[in-house]
Amino acid sequence: MKNIAIFVSGNGTNCENIIKHFAGSRDVRVALVVSNRADSYALTRAARHNIPTVVIPKSEFGNEAVLMDTLHRHDICFIVLAGFLLMIPDFLVKAYDHRMVNIHPALLPKYGGKGMYGHHVHEAVKAAGEKESGITIHWVSDVCDGGEIIAQYSTPLSESDTPEDIAAKVHALEMRHYPETIEKALASL
Ligand code: GAR
Repeated sequence: MKNIAIFVSGNGTNCENIIKHFAGSRDVRVALVVSNRADSYALTRAARHNIPTVVIPKSEFGNEAVLMDTLHRHDICFIVLAGFLLMIPDFLVKAYDHRMVNIHPALLPKYGGKGMYGHHVHEAVKAAGEKESGITIHWVSDVCDGGEIIAQYSTPLSESDTPEDIAAKVHALEMRHYPETIEKALASL
């Protein structure tokens, strides 16, 4: 059994979708949900599925002993970032090299980097008049949104799409593709 942890900061729709995907799996268990925010709704979602949760606030996130002890206690071999908004400290990038994935709600390398998250991304895509957007699933490296790309999926945009419409199209791709991409990445470990 491979134990994975999901790191989240906010609502947690991706987190819950991944939990549901692996529920009943004989190979993969979502063993822990980690949030930097005690008010993250993802924690409520995880608890509903009886998944252990832990809050590690921003001030503690650079503390190697705290983070690594937590992950070792739950025997975590793979980390999934799902709307996690803190920078990942170097020690964690190194410890989980090619064992930590992120999802970004745009077609990287466009619309990535610091400050580019959630609605900021979709507003930038709209302002640029892009004809398409999509999702990028990538390995986590020491460069924000700069790790090696595992998979990308795109969706056409129309001129009348609002940033909210773009967000909805991108979200549909996330729901459809993130769990299966994680499953494939885990199978190749
Ligand atoms: C998702 O759209 C994810 O791609 C994005 O945050 C949202 C989280 O939603 N991540 C980033 O913008 C990272 N830069 P959720 O909490 O409902 O899964």
